[in-house]
Amino acid sequence: MMRAEIAPDLLLPLQRGLLGWYIANGRDLPWRRTTDPYAVLVSEILLQQTQVATVLPVYATFLARWPTFAALAAAPLDAVKAVTDPLGYHVRGTWLHRIAGIVTAECDGQLPDTLEGLLALPGIGRYTAGAVLSFAFQQDAPIVDTNVDRLVSRLFNLRAGRPPVALRERRLWALAAALIPPGHGYLFNQALMDFGAQICTPYKPICLFCPLRPHCQWWTPRPDTGVVYSTDNA
Ligand code: ADE
Repeated sequence: MMRAEIAPDLLLPLQRGLLGWYIANGRDLPWRRTTDPYAVLVSEILLQQTQVATVLPVYATFLARWPTFAALAAAPLDAVKAVTDPLGYHVRGTWLHRIAGIVTAECDGQLPDTLEGLLALPGIGRYTAGAVLSFAFQQDAPIVDTNVDRLVSRLFNLRAGRPPVALRERRLWALAAALIPPGHGYLFNQALMDFGAQICTPYKPICLFCPLRPHCQWWTPRPDTGVVYSTDNA
């Protein structure tokens, strides 16, 4: 696994800037009002490749009809897909239904709380596993989605020199882990995503109001990156 160490004179202002912004500006979203692993998983699978505003009504309908893994496992797949397919990306209903079947039959109704356990389930990749670990189980697990990728890549100038995709990915995950203030993975990861969605946007990011601007290499190049990478084979 690759590790990243961020110089403290860079790390602390980034953490403070991001959390300060989130506490003042974070959105009140229904999946931020629960730590129920089932509800968190449903939200994260519905949110894949889909805008928050589009997911909101479907999330409410889904949880009202199938409030638990057991209820979902007992539902006909067609009924589940009728609710999720209008979002596009049609495999989501199938995945949720299959996960519900496995969790109910093999895991005593409990979603696993380890990276390996989650990755073994259909449709759960590293992003969704990290989201469940941090948002449901309060672990300091990193998450990298397109929002976090864009924000971290800009902050640390990760696209400079066009590194191979695999190397950039390893650096991204290492930085997403190193940025988390210990014990605050839940809040920090929510903040990262909201910041990427609202300030560090793909087109015309709102750099003028960005509290991270003095520390961002996109805006203010520094001679060094403030990061040391290391690889351990443990
Ligand atoms: N997209 C994916 N997960 C999200 C979350 N927890 N909050 C906002 N947008 C998201």
